[in-house]
Amino acid sequence: MSPFRLTRTLPEDATGAALRADVRAGLTGSPKTLPPKWFYDARGSELFEEITALPEYYPTRAEREILLARSDEIAAASGARTLVELGSGSSEKTRHLIAALHGLHTYVPVDVSESALTGAGQALAAERPGLRVHALVADFTAGLTLPDTPGPRLVAFLGGTIGNLLPAERSAFLASVRSLLAPGDALLLGTDLVKDEKTLVRAYDDAAGVTASFNKNVLNVVDRELGADFDPDAFDHVALWDAEHEWIEMRLRSRTAQSVKIPALELVVDFAEGEELRTEVSAKFRQEGVRAELSAAGLDLTRWWTDGEGRFALSLSVAR
Ligand code: SAH
Ligand code: TRP
Repeated sequence: MSPFRLTRTLPEDATGAALRADVRAGLTGSPKTLPPKWFYDARGSELFEEITALPEYYPTRAEREILLARSDEIAAASGARTLVELGSGSSEKTRHLIAALHGLHTYVPVDVSESALTGAGQALAAERPGLRVHALVADFTAGLTLPDTPGPRLVAFLGGTIGNLLPAERSAFLASVRSLLAPGDALLLGTDLVKDEKTLVRAYDDAAGVTASFNKNVLNVVDRELGADFDPDAFDHVALWDAEHEWIEMRLRSRTAQSVKIPALELVVDFAEGEELRTEVSAKFRQEGVRAELSAAGLDLTRWWTDGEGRFALSLSVAR
């Protein structure tokens, strides 16, 4: 039996069809938007890994600190035999949790980025011989079918990625996560916390410009996949704090008036000078809000841990 298996649950051309639909809807709407999952081609996944090491980007280090301190407690509370991780990326922090889960039978990393899954899966299979790794190339917002593996099941959703969903998407997403769980199964959720604006904005607008490259990479994806002629350098990276919604908003601002051709959509998109395209939100949370959103989905928050500086939280919740 091979220790590493990869299943694509996206139909062969689903990525193309979904990208075309998203780009058409997003660039013909007002204001213009693009959904964040298209950041993560192979280059985007690499750039995200670079972001996690930036001095300004504290969430990865804060969450790793909590996982290092709490993995034994999480393992004891969940007793998981199957660990499902949504948006697993490099699975780099997850290895601490995997090491603590002594009875673990199967690890199921789920990501839209096949390159990230392959790299992470091979590394893990080598590190923990006997652990079955069943990677799924899938969209976690589109309804997942999980492999049939033994419970209890623990679903992990780390990195604060839940903040990249808009509030309505978040409640639909949490309800779909609940449907993957049996009563007593658990969700381990990483949420970045509300804090001072300067720290937040810096985390999404670093001095070395890696986040700017990451944000602009979505234009390279549209150029490559849909034959568009976006010039990423004709846009500026913008990160701002929306105090009303308590989220960071990432935008690309057109430096000039310009028209962009998207041949695969037979579409020409006009940008005014200074016009902004919203590429991502990253919501920041408070404990009471997280508790309420989980509860609405049928999940009871049982544990809440933060890093020493109170910047980031991991919560454990149990399906009713
Ligand atoms: N969990 C990792 C990576 C976070 S970055 C960490 O904490 O560092 C977000 C990850 O989610 C990326 O790997 C990206 O490819 C993936 N992702 C984003 N949207 C997705 C979607 N709709 N379905 C599946 N994976 C998605
Ligand atoms: N889930 C990450 C976050 O919201 C994703 C991310 C980090 C990101 N830096 C980014 C997305 C910069 C777009 C641009 O923190």
